[in-house]
Amino acid sequence: MAFEIREARPDEIEDLLPLLLLAEESPSALRWSLRNMSDAVYRMDEDGRPVGAATMQWRGDPCEILEMGIAPERQGQGLGRQLVAWLVEEARRRGKREMVVGTPNTSVENFLFYQKCGFRMDSVRQDYFWYYGTPVFRRGIRVQDLLVFRRELSGGGSKKKRR
Ligand SMILES: CC(C)(COP(=O)(O)OP(=O)(O)OC[C@H]1O[C@@H](n2cnc3c(N)ncnc32)[C@H](O)[C@@H]1OP(=O)(O)O)[C@@H](O)C(=O)NCCC(=O)NCCS
Repeated sequence: MAFEIREARPDEIEDLLPLLLLAEESPSALRWSLRNMSDAVYRMDEDGRPVGAATMQWRGDPCEILEMGIAPERQGQGLGRQLVAWLVEEARRRGKREMVVGTPNTSVENFLFYQKCGFRMDSVRQDYFWYYGTPVFRRGIRVQDLLVFRRELSGGGSKKKRR
């Protein structure tokens, strides 16, 4: 199957919202993030149809994956890993040394996914989800902290660097 990954044009972003909402389920928070945090949106197409999307913050180093989603019917088939690998190459091309990504304290599957993609646990942004007006629970646990994973981009090593 042929996949294409590229930066989305501004007029294409609306179509990618369903995929990005898999990662940030609050539509208002997602729109805020797109306006204020995100520097570029990427789409992964299969036969011209978007099956994956990710938003990146490139302005600093580490750069950061903000939201990332793979279409539910295509999850678990290696697409997410492929999208991360592409973003890592793009980050290297931009001269970035590190990449981080955060995932909620309740998203244990993502802990595994990002480690499979070469990231290591790094830090916790406590009370990151304060903006959820009403408390949100997953599996009986409140969604409140962001667990941050970090990957070094030079040489594939895993030594931790001081920030
Ligand atoms: C998280 C997500 C992006 C992963 O993409 P994916 O295409 O399903 O993942 P892949 O198939 O590329 O998996 C890569 C590796 O991670 C592992 N992995 C992925 N999801 C997993 C899960 N739910 N449980 C255990 N392992 C998992 C896979 O087994 C695979 O390992 P392997 O190569 O050794 O077999 C996707 O499931 C998704 O869109 N989820 C909803 C939105 C979300 O949570 N986004 C991330 C927050 S920013």
